Amino acid sequence: MSRYLANPRRRPTQAAGDDGANLRFHRSLPGYSASPLVDLGEAAARAAGVGRLLVKDERERFGLPAFKMLGASWAVHRAVLDRLERTGGADVDLDGEPFDVLRRALQPLRPMGLTAATDGNHGRAVARMAAILDLPCHIYVPAGTVDARISAIEGEGATVTVVDGTYDDAIRVSAGCGDEWLVISDTSWPGYTDIPRWVGDGYATILHELHEQLDSVPDAVVVPLGVGAFGAAVAAGLPADVGEPPFILGVEPDDAACVQAAVAAGRVVEVPGPHRSIMAGLNCGLASQTALPAIMDRFDGFTTVSDEACATALRTLADLGFDCGECGAATLAGLTSVVGHVPELGQDATVVLLCTEGVTDPVSFRAIVGREPHEAALAGS
Ligand SMILES: Cc1ncc(COP(=O)(O)O)c(C=O)c1O
Repeated sequence: MSRYLANPRRRPTQAAGDDGANLRFHRSLPGYSASPLVDLGEAAARAAGVGRLLVKDERERFGLPAFKMLGASWAVHRAVLDRLERTGGADVDLDGEPFDVLRRALQPLRPMGLTAATDGNHGRAVARMAAILDLPCHIYVPAGTVDARISAIEGEGATVTVVDGTYDDAIRVSAGCGDEWLVISDTSWPGYTDIPRWVGDGYATILHELHEQLDSVPDAVVVPLGVGAFGAAVAAGLPADVGEPPFILGVEPDDAACVQAAVAAGRVVEVPGPHRSIMAGLNCGLASQTALPAIMDRFDGFTTVSDEACATALRTLADLGFDCGECGAATLAGLTSVVGHVPELGQDATVVLLCTEGVTDPVSFRAIVGREPHEAALAGS
């Protein structure tokens, strides 16, 4: 049963923005291209009860089936330069293409590995970065992570350990690794805030691209929320200083709505597991402390969706030829749950759905849609 919360803490703030260094870094990575902005067409918009339905299509990034490489790569870059500086730095030339700088900066820090906890996509992105940079990698996943996601991470060359517990338990284990491991977490805890902030800063490349692709400010943007790092990037990267800034709606699974709970309480609160939603990337019980302030300031509303609602949205998108993963379909389910109840989401509204995931679990896709996913939707799966 969907639960809606109008943000009681919304403040009229200016968007902080950034200097575009993240975008320049991503452009220097092999395989970069801007993700498409897709118009789902008039019939789909009408069926959803809005005027125009656009999708920022993150089903493929750097050959992986989710947007997460943007955050993992930028955080690794920043964390390596930070460690180099804190260890006295060696005589490393920091001029030139950002990706070349990263490779040079790593040399004096070896041997060193990358580690992270994940419910799938973030860990795979960290593992891919480790492979590109020729570093060892150890990824921790919660119990119940589907085999396809574990094999995909192992396929990047990483060691995967299944932790007997939730995603938040897996985070606690990864955080305890020694100094020879650089922990690239997308969520924060007391004393560990820089790297999660850099992960979120990396996601802001999506917002830079969106600005270039949109011909006008949309009326609403719909964002899937796990720990909230992506949501914070959206909050910071969307215009707040225009006449009518877009309405921002966050979407979470019914039983893992930790961001909605944190906003209601005004602080991080644990939403106890088990978190078993098919929207695996959104199965989080603790919002990120560093992400929360931007979300509280700038989001307008939060909604929750059931697995059934997500499956319906996934079928609707698949019927339009847009095959995606469960987290990707969550935004359409979230929009559907509030249309007619929220004035900003009326029949003339232009709405941007942030579709963050391609088909990462083909078995689930087949069970929901009743056919194989299209080849293109499996990019990198
Ligand atoms: C595909 C996908 N979408 C959205 C999210 C949510 O991102 P965040 O945890 O930063 O809120 C995740 C997180 O893992 C994800 O994998």
